[in-house]
Amino acid sequence: MGAAGNLAILGLQWGDEGKGKVVDLLAPRFRHVVRFQGGNNAGHTVVVKGESFALHQVPSGALHEGCLLVVGGGVVLNLEVLALELERLESRGFAVRERLLLSEKAHLILPHHIALDRWREGGRNRIGTTGRGIGPCYEMKAARMGVRLGDLLHPETLADRIRPGFDEVLHLLGSPEDLPPLERLVQELLQAATPFLPLIGDAQGRLFEAWKRGEPILFEGAQATLLDIDHGTYPFVTSSNCSLGGLFTGTGLPPKALGRVLGIAKAYTTRVGAGPMPSELLDATGERLREVGHEYGTTTGRPRRCGWFDGPITAHACRTNGVDGLAIMKLDVLDGFGEVGIVTGYRDGEGGVSRRVPGCAQDWEGLRPEIRRLPGWSAPTRGARRLADLPPEARAYLQVLEEVVETPIAYLSTGPDREEGCLPGGSFLQGLLPA
Ligand code: IMP
Repeated sequence: MGAAGNLAILGLQWGDEGKGKVVDLLAPRFRHVVRFQGGNNAGHTVVVKGESFALHQVPSGALHEGCLLVVGGGVVLNLEVLALELERLESRGFAVRERLLLSEKAHLILPHHIALDRWREGGRNRIGTTGRGIGPCYEMKAARMGVRLGDLLHPETLADRIRPGFDEVLHLLGSPEDLPPLERLVQELLQAATPFLPLIGDAQGRLFEAWKRGEPILFEGAQATLLDIDHGTYPFVTSSNCSLGGLFTGTGLPPKALGRVLGIAKAYTTRVGAGPMPSELLDATGERLREVGHEYGTTTGRPRRCGWFDGPITAHACRTNGVDGLAIMKLDVLDGFGEVGIVTGYRDGEGGVSRRVPGCAQDWEGLRPEIRRLPGWSAPTRGARRLADLPPEARAYLQVLEEVVETPIAYLSTGPDREEGCLPGGSFLQGLLPA
């Protein structure tokens, strides 16, 4: 069984690193592209010939006809949103339905999950979720009150599957106006589900067979390590395992089915929602990163918090995921800055500097970033296709970044389009990406 060719792509920061572009670039070399966690909180942007596609639940291999698309059991799905996404792709000439398999074990995001998410976000303990019902859907799964896609194939018992979770939400919220009664909810769900019923199946079995036959598999993470429910900045995280462990639980494949791990990070740092972010720049520099980098959420349109590249969090993510190489994205956004920075550690109130990523929310308080400042560059990196074409200051910046993270760069993106990027000599992606 050939695992060597199977590759995982994982975010190393707080999401929005540009995973969509990398998956889209690599997809032609893979037979299967797999999502294994998260839901329509994700927004993966792929730009093809200047045209932008935002994918939320469909794997980013959607734009390549030869790719079979698998939604694993660790994913949570909103079928109404999925229908819209497929329609949008089809109207632009991408037939996806025939290539899509939805795991019978994936959980459904239901209206009462969304109502609960939004109700909580209206209270004092808000964490800035996307409001898509992701947290409550995973909670119901863990509480054994979730509803799986496979349950849709048993309409006679569907109301009984949904009722316990639905009743708990009503108990907590009263009877919110925007929540239909259970009978209507079930009816509407069955209606929305009808076109998807033929796509529901044994994704674990399909992937196992593909692995056995040596057909290459690309695993596409959503969100990122610092948003991982266990290894992120808890409680300001999403509700799934976005780091490597989630790949195995979310597909049912064992670790030996995986070859390499490519970690994706932006050349600077962004975050949406509340929670610690020591690198955040609340000044004109942060504003410039946001405007030049178009740092507004793909899913919610919210402005992203921006700051210099954070070495310790990215190193933590590399360790957590066993990253073999980095894809550094959006280097061109730093073009024209007089000076650029890399966070190399955190200084506490007593003056001590540490590279450790705190495990508790309280331990982040009062940490100040230790920033290594480097000369910026005026010649553009935008569109560069060879490292040798980068200004020397940009190359020096990347070298420091690699040292701080202790991981080599395997791909460098210099613009949103497929053609804009460099493949360093010695990269393990040689042979998978055009040089
Ligand atoms: P939830 O996933 O909607 O529950 O949101 C929890 C946290 O994760 C919030 O801070 C969101 O902004 C963040 N989040 C969820 N999905 C993404 C994503 O795809 N990119 C960036 N942040 C995300």
